[in-house]
Amino acid sequence: MSSLPYIVGNWKMNGTRAMLAEARAIDRAASRFPGVQVALAPPFTLVHAMREAVQEIGVGGQDCHVQPGGAFTGDISAPILADAGADFTIVGHSERRALHGEGDALVRDKAEAAQAAGLSVILCVGETEAERDSGKAEAVVSGQLAGSLPRGDDAAVRLAVAYEPVWAIGTGRVPSVDDVGAMHRAIRAQLVAIYGDAGQGVRILYGGSVNAGNAAELLAADEVGGALVGGASLTAESFTAIIGAAALERD
Ligand code: 13P
Repeated sequence: MSSLPYIVGNWKMNGTRAMLAEARAIDRAASRFPGVQVALAPPFTLVHAMREAVQEIGVGGQDCHVQPGGAFTGDISAPILADAGADFTIVGHSERRALHGEGDALVRDKAEAAQAAGLSVILCVGETEAERDSGKAEAVVSGQLAGSLPRGDDAAVRLAVAYEPVWAIGTGRVPSVDDVGAMHRAIRAQLVAIYGDAGQGVRILYGGSVNAGNAAELLAADEVGGALVGGASLTAESFTAIIGAAALERD
């Protein structure tokens, strides 16, 4: 498992073919920072075209179905994603959990289906604002991890966890560096409890309103191994600044 900082852009439901120009520019920028692992998760429709357009960066999906194929109109399976050229997929994003009613058991099944298809997995967890305000943030995240981390041999090998507080997504608000560090330490302890030594190699990304201005201090927090970036990953200019901050953090 790589220990390079991992900077991943989640384009969510944004991206037409015109935006492949941004992906190419991000790819060129990534080649200037070999000490940083960079990836983009565009809408499904762009996965194949992006894979063909870039050389340095990883390309992945934002979700996958638990079954490899069948009568599931509108869904995309992990083997189909892999066939389109994806290296990884995000699962359990809070927007899927909240807007599509995805629970921990389903998220685990998705993570395991993705790994079975040869994809790496970025598993998302994070508390709501009410849960943080009532002092339950670590308990909520711990419960999500217990219920949704993939199990089985080598499950920790192609795995990253993204801690994304729901209240920080798209709001411009971020937790304090101390709170990020405390949560990431708790996640690390749980990963080691579940996977043993292999849990040390799982990168833990922070996500939620990461931008060029705050990336350096968030990436410097304890046990932060990278970032999952939404809005600021949509242009090469803003995303490259975050990749550059990760490169400096590593030096
Ligand atoms: P923003 O960076 O736009 O807050 O989104 C974060 C996110 O949800 C990435 O998965």
